[in-house]
Amino acid sequence: MTTTLITGANKGLGFETARRLVAAGHTVYLGSRDPERGRRAAGELGARAVVLDVTDDASVAAAAKAIEADGGLDVLINNAGVEGRTPEGGVIGAADLTADMMRSIFETNVFGVVRVTHAFLPLLRRSAAPVVVNVSSGLASLTRVSTPDTPTYAYPGVAYPASKATVNMITVQFAKAFPEIRVNAVEPGYTATDLNGHTGTQTVQEGAEIIVRTAQLGPEGPTGGYFDIEGPLPW
Ligand SMILES: NC(=O)c1ccc[n+]([C@@H]2O[C@H](COP(=O)([O-])OP(=O)(O)OC[C@H]3O[C@@H](n4cnc5c(N)ncnc54)[C@H](OP(=O)(O)O)[C@@H]3O)[C@@H](O)[C@H]2O)c1
Repeated sequence: MTTTLITGANKGLGFETARRLVAAGHTVYLGSRDPERGRRAAGELGARAVVLDVTDDASVAAAAKAIEADGGLDVLINNAGVEGRTPEGGVIGAADLTADMMRSIFETNVFGVVRVTHAFLPLLRRSAAPVVVNVSSGLASLTRVSTPDTPTYAYPGVAYPASKATVNMITVQFAKAFPEIRVNAVEPGYTATDLNGHTGTQTVQEGAEIIVRTAQLGPEGPTGGYFDIEGPLPW
């Protein structure tokens, strides 16, 4: 029996990933920073709710302790993320970006990934087939962001792509440090969720596919990679 934790799984891509992995037979811990939203979402799917705010050391430590007491963890999906828009819903471009805005995005998207992975590493290292999936973005690709005449090139935000490019680097370095763990970054594609005011062109079912697939990699699967549904992406 495979035990899987998904952060930020009370809605969006995380929720759909939880649904699919429950159907695949995983014991799924559905992470949510809000206890009530988490309980409701987990109840709907037959998952186990765990309160987990990725920006809060005590919350992450308590979640790790509870899951350890229940028997351990095989798969960690670092999915919780924020894009950080203006109050009017606009993307924050270079002219308006402040250090505080950057720090706040990194707190969730980068330090959250490190905080959660660090807390769950001892459990993962005891698993026979440990897997970490870091939910990155196509906007993390320096190659794509710097290739003119592409939608990725046209995206003006700074903090969000920088945070996901950092997630990619974290992925590569953790994969090298822990060769016994499959550690990969994935790009779900532009998906209609609250993150982008439902402007995404894909459904959550389509977007979750690469997350679900990468979560199910066996010990012979790739590690230290960056993938979308079609295959490897340029860094
Ligand atoms: N949608 C896309 O087009 C797209 C494309 C590429 C990558 N992604 C990535 O996919 C992941 C999921 O995003 P989504 O599109 O599904 O967005 P979403 O529907 O807004 O879901 C984001 C989830 O993250 C949670 N979250 C935010 N801050 C948190 C924190 N401090 N602690 C714990 N959970 C927290 C949210 O919880 P609350 O409900 O409490 O806010 C929510 O459950 C993100 O990493 C995002 O960057 C999305």
